[in-house]
Amino acid sequence: MYIRVALVLLVLPLAVWGQPLPADVQPLSIVPEPVSVQATGGMYSGKLVYTVKAPAATDPPEGYVLDVTPKGIIVTASGAGVFYAEQTLKQLGPGAIPCVHIVDYPRYGFRGMHLDVSRHFFSVAFIKKYLDILAAYKLNTFHWHLTDSHGWRIEIKKYPRLTSIGAWRADRTGIPTTIAKPTAIGEPATYGGFYTQEQIREVVAYAAKRFITIIPEIEIPGHCDAALVAYPEFSDLDNPAPLLRPCGYPGDLTHNLCLGYEPSFAFVEDILSEVMVLFPGVFMHIGGDEVRGGPWLGCPRCRQRMQEHGFTTARQYQNWFTHRIDSFINAHGKRMIGWDEVLGAEITPSAAAMLWHDPAAALQALKKGHDMVMAPYHYTYFDFYQSDPRLEPDITYAGLGLDTVYAFEPTPAGLTPEENKHVLGGEACLWTENFATPARVEYMLLPRLLALAEVLWSPPGKKDYPRFVRKTEAQFKRLAAAGISYATSLYNVAIQPSYVPDRGIRVSLADQTHLYPIRYTLDGSQPSVNSLLYTEPFMLTKTAALRTAVFKNNRLVGKVNGDRLTIHLATGAGIRLSPDSTVGAARLVDGIHGTIEPYDGRWVIFHDSMVD
Ligand code: ACM
Repeated sequence: MYIRVALVLLVLPLAVWGQPLPADVQPLSIVPEPVSVQATGGMYSGKLVYTVKAPAATDPPEGYVLDVTPKGIIVTASGAGVFYAEQTLKQLGPGAIPCVHIVDYPRYGFRGMHLDVSRHFFSVAFIKKYLDILAAYKLNTFHWHLTDSHGWRIEIKKYPRLTSIGAWRADRTGIPTTIAKPTAIGEPATYGGFYTQEQIREVVAYAAKRFITIIPEIEIPGHCDAALVAYPEFSDLDNPAPLLRPCGYPGDLTHNLCLGYEPSFAFVEDILSEVMVLFPGVFMHIGGDEVRGGPWLGCPRCRQRMQEHGFTTARQYQNWFTHRIDSFINAHGKRMIGWDEVLGAEITPSAAAMLWHDPAAALQALKKGHDMVMAPYHYTYFDFYQSDPRLEPDITYAGLGLDTVYAFEPTPAGLTPEENKHVLGGEACLWTENFATPARVEYMLLPRLLALAEVLWSPPGKKDYPRFVRKTEAQFKRLAAAGISYATSLYNVAIQPSYVPDRGIRVSLADQTHLYPIRYTLDGSQPSVNSLLYTEPFMLTKTAALRTAVFKNNRLVGKVNGDRLTIHLATGAGIRLSPDSTVGAARLVDGIHGTIEPYDGRWVIFHDSMVD
């Protein structure tokens, strides 16, 4: 019989991160909305000592009930639930705590955050800080992208060259380096390094104390140049891997693991065998994304093997590899997980996929009964810049605002309740091709992590963006007090101009708070509280130097954005380009200047078909 008894008395630390916080700043703590909060009147002002009771066996996993009364605090929870109740208590304090009855549990059991430590290496100390941040926002999974083409980051005893060679690469100047170099913003960037198995165990234990499971990712059979440089015999014969190159060097992904060479399988299996024992979690991530067929088709060993199996496409060949590796992982009592590309393979029923493309692509797998973790890039890729690219320190492929992350719905429509259960949850990814330092990683992580936390924890009916923005602003003070970098890009105004034939340029302005007034000037002057108030899209009929910003409590917040919008005799003129199939030629004469981001919709991009 399940007996509800008082189990332990716990004393709560008064501050997180081991340092006292300023009096008006509370510790980092939950953003996710509890399922229900009922103020019961009065305050508790005793010591921060509380009683923990065991929950009923039928209570939701990771949940807790928190009762604060004038006489004391009772937490009904176990394991992670106790930990999460502590996070909530920290938010209610310091000082006297309001009396409340809180019932809370997460919407999804998989609340993940990823970090790529291959493109740039991050120290054990930083990984611990990253885990602290994840735990403060009640995430429970850390997806550690340990290997890729630019660096192998985990010690494998049987193959020492993976780290003695594969963990070190050239910096952006092309000079191989093991030396930390200062970046433009004066912080050391680490281009090389790896974790010993001892350090991996230390991090796994550190995470476990915070109820975080780590999923290791070993990328195969593509995205693995670092391994192939160290052990070229496992590379495609006609395509030997060259020395490691700088991040972003054109031609990444030109090498694959050679599947026509049978010892390649033992190589992978040996590596996975060492990795799987280091990580107690059930999932083993094998990557599997973006594998190019060319290297295999150019390799005589691979061509022969494809022929033996009757494969006519590289994708069939990869599927065969995935199937073999999945079976191996399964036989070792673990579950394979891979990027959604693995879904083409015949995989064991327990294997799962991480969706990074369009969520619609997940439907078939979910209907087949495969578990999925949703990480669609247009909602969850935190390497994407956070506001107008002209106002951001680093530019990558596309933008992803805080409001878009908040709008993320992990469970696709059109599934039965039974099929819905296969959506384990969601995850955001932080690829680090462009981020060399901890401070920059934190800046990309926050505050978008808060939106992700709320999406994955809170009941969908509790979503309320204005309230979320205000809570996020409260967190800024806490983050600053804890020495964590974050972006305030939600205040930056996006300028969306479009040419309207015979009328001029229509300008629409939007920030990501959707709360505060946007003001603007048209003569290039600095916007002030007395500048024009933006209420709806407006037309420009003559050239203007637009400058705009958000004002909160009559003070400019965020950055000033600007655009020169030009109306002259050629604006909107007919234009023909050769080749005339080029899309968007009219953009060249629409009076709207391009930003520094080539995919901003303002540029015309010419693709040379010979090069493509
Ligand atoms: C991925 O972004 N290639 C998984």
